[in-house]
Amino acid sequence: MNMGKPVALVTGASSGIGAAFARALAARGDDLVVVARDETRLEELAETLEKEHGSAVEVLAADLTSKKGMAVVEARLESAEPPIDLLVNNAGMGTYGKFAELPREAEAREVRLNVLSVVQLSHAALPGLIERGRGGIINVSSLACYQPTPLNATYGGTKAFVTSFSQALHEELRGTGVNVMVLCPGFTRTEFQERAGLDSGSVPSFLWQQPEPVVDAALRAYGHGRAVCIPGALNQAGAVFSSAMPAGVTRRIAGAVLPRVE
Ligand SMILES: NC(=O)c1ccc[n+]([C@@H]2O[C@H](COP(=O)([O-])OP(=O)(O)OC[C@H]3O[C@@H](n4cnc5c(N)ncnc54)[C@H](OP(=O)(O)O)[C@@H]3O)[C@@H](O)[C@H]2O)c1
Repeated sequence: MNMGKPVALVTGASSGIGAAFARALAARGDDLVVVARDETRLEELAETLEKEHGSAVEVLAADLTSKKGMAVVEARLESAEPPIDLLVNNAGMGTYGKFAELPREAEAREVRLNVLSVVQLSHAALPGLIERGRGGIINVSSLACYQPTPLNATYGGTKAFVTSFSQALHEELRGTGVNVMVLCPGFTRTEFQERAGLDSGSVPSFLWQQPEPVVDAALRAYGHGRAVCIPGALNQAGAVFSSAMPAGVTRRIAGAVLPRVE
């Protein structure tokens, strides 16, 4: 790593929004630590970013639902060689279907990845950030955090946690020079829906964003010290609507919008 360059650690960097974060951060001159399970994809990304942007990229292949994988990433965040300036807690997964019929282990894994890893990695990163008085954390939540999501029940619950948790940290850290921001994307073209077993063909095309503008909006908002970033005017309107309406209304709308499971 090049001494003096900012270093960002991005989880879930092997595809989608995480890979877009890694590319955007390398393009603005950061060195990187990239984390995911698929080591081959991470090595390919590292090679590209080193070639195109001259970034030093460290690859950490780790399963963030395992104690062993978490220990590796926590140790890197606690290390000062060189210190991490920005943690992007992006890795996440979804499950889709009637909760009672979904495999219990996948629901538990979803909570470990979407909630527990965010808590533990934030906890590992913060003492160093606070001591240095700069840098921060971007936690990737979802527009799903603003209302209960039938057929995505665990997913919506995990993202409601991430949004609440991140905003609480943002306030706790006021005046320290450290920022925690939550990013709440709407439908974004990545591997997410397919991996979650969700047929998103019925979602109108105007609701979709590419990962790059989502990440651009996030880095701009983070640069301004914001607490929350909702990328895109339609998503912002959706969040305002869901926050203003009673859950009895929004949960019915969410249930009607998502494809049915027979
Ligand atoms: N796409 C959307 O519409 C959307 C909307 C709102 C919010 N989000 C959120 O955006 C974030 C990124 O998702 P994405 O859309 O970019 O989906 P994606 O393309 O499926 O990427 C998910 C990333 O997480 C990694 N990952 C999954 N399980 C992991 C594990 N056990 N340990 C370590 N890494 C793991 C994956 O890499 P490996 O498989 O190599 O481990 C991959 O890099 C998630 O938190 C998601 O909830 C997505």
